[in-house]
Amino acid sequence: MISFGSMPNAIEALLDFYIEAGVDCAIDELPRDRFQDSAVARAAIASAHVPIAQPHGVNAKPQSAAVPSVSLALETIDETARAARELARNADTLPALREALATFDGCGLKATAKNLVFSDGNPQARVMFVGEAPGRDEDLQGVPFVGRSGQLLDRMLKAIGLSRAEDVYIANIVPWRPPGNRTPTPQEAAACHPFIQRQIELCNPDILVCLGGPSVQALLGVREGILRTRGRWFTYNTGQREIRALATLHPAYLLRQPLQKRLAWRDFRALQKAIAETAPSHNISA
Ligand code: URA
Repeated sequence: MISFGSMPNAIEALLDFYIEAGVDCAIDELPRDRFQDSAVARAAIASAHVPIAQPHGVNAKPQSAAVPSVSLALETIDETARAARELARNADTLPALREALATFDGCGLKATAKNLVFSDGNPQARVMFVGEAPGRDEDLQGVPFVGRSGQLLDRMLKAIGLSRAEDVYIANIVPWRPPGNRTPTPQEAAACHPFIQRQIELCNPDILVCLGGPSVQALLGVREGILRTRGRWFTYNTGQREIRALATLHPAYLLRQPLQKRLAWRDFRALQKAIAETAPSHNISA
């Protein structure tokens, strides 16, 4: 027998399960052929240029069929990008940027995330780390890299004499958790891009460390696999200044492939050396 008293809890638990598993939109009860849907849309677009009825009368104009508005969708994407750029550009401080991001509705991940995950560490630090996107623990706490991969990152930092609280600033290319911990889509990363760009500009570190392939790709525009790019130094241009940028392996990958920690160790030693060799700009660790 169904207990109606517990029904809302059961529904809530089921919805939580769906979100956890990566289900982020309700579709239909029955399977649906999306290829068929797009074929219909294509046909509608093609027929848009064909007059559907010949009008009568000397001044009558030909009419077009109603079409799904593809250009409207593209305009919306453009507008979202413009809004993101403007919000980010107008933020003069990191707290103002955080507030601006909290008002931004142009990334669908916000709808399923529990918290905005903006940053951790010291905004005055000389080294900034940028990961991919928050996971479950980060989403619950609103702080980046606090789960297992964050704990490994802390140990890696400690091994080269750095502490999270004092020596580094940490953020992600996307500040909301993708459902089911999937990789953010290129659209989600693009929607949030102006914010991480501005965050780097405002933090203005001497060295930027990209953790994992998606971060390398989003910030450095390098499409090669992370096993090829790791350990290499790049230049990140904030528009004001060029910053040395290191590509390295993501701690979550190292948890899955512990043997690769030796490569990460090489990268972190190179980072330690670079910190010692790079003249500090205005930033001084607190
Ligand atoms: N992985 C990331 O890329 N970022 C986090 O904040 C946590 C895990």
